Amino acid sequence: MIHIYLACIFTFSNAVFANNIGTPIKTNERPIIGVLAQEVYDPSPLRNSYIAASYVKFLESAGARVVPLMINKSDDEYRKLFKSINGVLFPGGGVSLESSGYSKAAGIFYRLALEANSNGDYFPVWGTCLGFELLTLLTSGKLLLSHTNTSGIVLPLNFTDDVRDSRLFRDFPEDLMKSLETEPLTENSHQWSLTTENFTKSETLKKFYRVLSTNTDGQNEFVSTMEAYDFPIYATQWHPEKNAFEWTRPYIPHTPSAIKTTFYMAYFFVNEARKSFHSFPSTEEEEKALIYNYKPEYTGPQSAFEQIYFFD
Ligand SMILES: *[C@@H]1O[C@H](CO)[C@@H](O)[C@H](O)[C@H]1NC(C)=O
Ligand SMILES: *[C@@H]1O[C@H](CO)[C@@H](O)[C@H](O)[C@H]1NC(C)=O
Ligand SMILES: *[C@@H]1O[C@H](CO)[C@@H](O)[C@H](O)[C@H]1NC(C)=O
Ligand SMILES: *[C@@H]1O[C@H](CO)[C@@H](O)[C@H](O)[C@H]1NC(C)=O
Repeated sequence: MIHIYLACIFTFSNAVFANNIGTPIKTNERPIIGVLAQEVYDPSPLRNSYIAASYVKFLESAGARVVPLMINKSDDEYRKLFKSINGVLFPGGGVSLESSGYSKAAGIFYRLALEANSNGDYFPVWGTCLGFELLTLLTSGKLLLSHTNTSGIVLPLNFTDDVRDSRLFRDFPEDLMKSLETEPLTENSHQWSLTTENFTKSETLKKFYRVLSTNTDGQNEFVSTMEAYDFPIYATQWHPEKNAFEWTRPYIPHTPSAIKTTFYMAYFFVNEARKSFHSFPSTEEEEKALIYNYKPEYTGPQSAFEQIYFFD
């Protein structure tokens, strides 16, 4: 035991030495993640925007607290919130990638994240489904999406060779990796996709993102999971949050591996947020911003989501 320990000391740098002798890498054990709201399809008083509660539960299940990021706020308000939170999640949904309050706010957080990370201020970003699609637009400046037949299907992931070295999947348990590859565990609810052909044709996207998995609708192969090479930016075209928290569609998988998938994806991203040290200026401001100030409504019988937070 001591022998191995000494070997580590002599072969690694001072930084690792410090860790070997017991100085833990500092982490933020109270991560707060912003989840972006979006316009409702059919607005009414007090119901102009929403967040599906499953995204909140997803992050909470791995030890984060959530702050809703409202749409149509000023740049200054977003900048202030950015300095207060430890990561941001762009949920799935159905609003415009070019002209919605959702896309505008996401663009601001994306640019702030690039700037912060470039200056050594760690700040992770996650995009799910529409959030994935928006990230391809924000990174490339172009809408490169193609229509696919992928509404309401559950698929196994086709991992690329890069998956073993990926930050996202490299610490997943072997049995879960096997299940992800062989069982239908990833729920797809999208009509637009980034085909691997269009991804490969885009020098900007190819330089920015490492593709971790692909899928096909039988006609076109598309990118289903990716992570940025040089930034803590992650995106899934599929819905990791649904397996554990949504029951509104019969095809959403709830097997033990499906639930494990939800948890490991959340655990990964929340651990990324633990590397960020942004914080609210005061406990009072933090308390006022948290999602606990809002009540989700039971919407299962008439919506794709069991519970929804509505906002004015
Ligand atoms: C947000 O702004 C967009 C236009 O930028 C508008 O279409 C939308 O109705 C606004 N939504 C809310 C909830 O303010
Ligand atoms: C690539 O993207 C363009 C839109 O920019 C789209 O019209 C085209 O169908 C896509 N091609 C493929 C092969 O997906
Ligand atoms: C879309 O995919 C489903 C299977 O997921 C298949 O039954 C259907 O025929 C496909 N539709 C088209 C237009 O290809
Ligand atoms: C997985 O991806 C590879 C590389 O693109 C492709 O050759 C293979 O056919 C795919 N397998 C499935 C089941 O889609």
